[in-house]
Amino acid sequence: MKIKRIGLLTAGGDAPGMNSAIRSVVRYALYHKLEVIGFYRGYWGLINEELTVLDHRAVSGIINLGGTILKTMRCQEFKTRKGQERAYHIIKKNALDALIVIGGDGTIRGAYEFTKRFSLPCVCIAASVDNDINGIDQTIGYDTAVNTALSAIDNIRDTATSMERIFVVEVMGRDSGFIALQVALAGGCENVIIPEKKFDLDIICHNIVEGNLRGKLSWIIVVAEGAASAREVADAITEKTSLETRVVVLGHIQRGGRPTATSRFLGTLFGKYAVEILLNGQSNKVVGMSLGKVVAVDFETALKKKEIPVDEIYHLINILT
Ligand code: F6P
Repeated sequence: MKIKRIGLLTAGGDAPGMNSAIRSVVRYALYHKLEVIGFYRGYWGLINEELTVLDHRAVSGIINLGGTILKTMRCQEFKTRKGQERAYHIIKKNALDALIVIGGDGTIRGAYEFTKRFSLPCVCIAASVDNDINGIDQTIGYDTAVNTALSAIDNIRDTATSMERIFVVEVMGRDSGFIALQVALAGGCENVIIPEKKFDLDIICHNIVEGNLRGKLSWIIVVAEGAASAREVADAITEKTSLETRVVVLGHIQRGGRPTATSRFLGTLFGKYAVEILLNGQSNKVVGMSLGKVVAVDFETALKKKEIPVDEIYHLINILT
């Protein structure tokens, strides 16, 4: 089937760089004489027919903006048969030949379930600060989130060093430790706690006490939100070592802000590639970056648990601390 009209939406948590992907999809599609209809607020907008025609001017001046001009939300209704039927009806009513969806694992799962039930060419663009899409080394937004968290940790280190304190910093990532690991390595942090590896607070406390005896008095411990709460970790350290701790929860600060060059670059490349693979007759793919190349992986592959080379990185942190 010749594709003439594409639906486009962003769903789930916003990620910096989504706007560059929107811009790229729209302008590359227009270049190929396709029409693009944007839906507001993710799958909810599809179900409720909240749409707009996206022309060249509609995506002007957005490449430098965090968030998403199409807005986004998590939509429970799209998980139901009724919600999906309604979405398909809107797709048919608006004569859409294909769908491009920008988002993370929940969004991809939504597209996967939808396309199992209804036959429609559909491509996802991997965008999530969590970087937890299997088969893809880097998602849109991850680099910005890591740099934002890193900048916060650099600031915290000034106080940690000057006042010789222990800081426990909680970062995002849902069930995944990618942000935590990269930030801990890049920030020269003393410890990192992630969901993918069992942690032993007794060992961490033993190292802190031993470090103190050697004159090492400041520590930054990065905790991924999916592994533990920074508050609990800090309280346990104080209880076991009698040393004062401070807690910083970075939260949504990591998800917003001006996208880095990398996040914009990925958004731009992924957007173009998503249109291209639809034009080549491919569907049910997730577009992302792997080993320096833009790739498209199957929905099933993308939804598997992404492994992290945990032991290697922990070993390195231990050597370098
Ligand atoms: O998936 C992105 C993410 O920012 C996670 O890191 C975090 O756990 C979650 O979204 C927070 O979701 P919400 O913005 O709905 O609170």
